[in-house]
Amino acid sequence: MTRAKILGTGRGLPERVVTNDDLAEFLDTSDTWIRERTGICQRRIAAKETLLELCEEAARQAMDQSGVEAGELDMIIAATLTADHPLPNLSSSLQRVLGADNAVCFDLSAACSGFIFALTTAQMYIQSGHAKKVLVLGGEILSKIMDWTDRSTCILFGDGAGAAVVGVSENEEGILAADLGSNGKKGGVLSLPGRPVENPFRPAEKGPEKCYVHMEGQEVFKFAVSQVPASIRKLLEESGKSIDDVDCFVLHQANLRIIRSAAKRLKAPEEKFFINMERYGNTSAASVPIALDEGIRSGRIKKGDLIVLSGFGGGLTWGSMLVQM
Ligand code: COA
Repeated sequence: MTRAKILGTGRGLPERVVTNDDLAEFLDTSDTWIRERTGICQRRIAAKETLLELCEEAARQAMDQSGVEAGELDMIIAATLTADHPLPNLSSSLQRVLGADNAVCFDLSAACSGFIFALTTAQMYIQSGHAKKVLVLGGEILSKIMDWTDRSTCILFGDGAGAAVVGVSENEEGILAADLGSNGKKGGVLSLPGRPVENPFRPAEKGPEKCYVHMEGQEVFKFAVSQVPASIRKLLEESGKSIDDVDCFVLHQANLRIIRSAAKRLKAPEEKFFINMERYGNTSAASVPIALDEGIRSGRIKKGDLIVLSGFGGGLTWGSMLVQM
């Protein structure tokens, strides 16, 4: 069976660093509270960049590393819930700036699991022979959907983008397995209202003036600490692998306490978990590819390593993936 493989990765981050102390200037919070509850020390905020610019940077790095030219891409899948505009979609805008004229482009929405869902989609197209080289992105400017007066939510998030070029594996390396899931019944614990319907046949409804993320933090926390280890355990069991076989776990960077709890429940050493949320906060769909890219470029993730990628969040959705690098 044809196997899909990650050929290159990249990341694009806004220049502006916003520390916890910066937030404490306009919010009733403190650096100590945020660090202790989340592990986050700072995040990047798009003070001037567009999401397209961040994604283009990530894509160009991933293409450089993989040696794949824009014209060779036959598909671009962008996972996001904060595209600069709904039309044209982010992936088609990327096609334009990259000159990837032969690519089929579509966006995908699965919140913080978006990159794993997009990577799985790329894998399916490659496995079935319908695509050979796919650019997968996860990118968000979450700062535009935050209520900056809600201290229990806005302190968690940051902006950024990550990318991977996926191609056909010539050997045993590549994406070995994936486990995806959704629980729409619990969707209300992490939500973002949309614009109310208003047309000549329907009078304007009274809707929110501005649309911001609503989060029931403790419910999301409970979901993450139970579902993420369960998904990873299932993935490993079905692949005939054990925790000991895994060299590095690259989890969605939502909260250090969630990662520590997952490590404990999986009985895996914390050192095996890649962590960078102290610098970027939770960047939703971008967090796994940014962490993967940093892991690879820093030498922490090496050729031949067996790694687990795992995302979880709104929907509720979750997804884990086993990759032989
Ligand atoms: N600074 C200072 N105090 C804060 C605060 C902040 N930024 N945010 C909340 N508080 C206060 C609350 O008002 C509350 O005060 P009270 O006891 O006087 O009412 C107190 O801290 C405890 O609030 P609580 O919501 O119980 O805190 P918590 O321990 O659950 O931590 C989160 C809050 C958001 C950090 C935690 O629930 C969490 O990480 N959840 C998961 C969120 C997540 O990862 N979402 C994305 C998933 S993709």
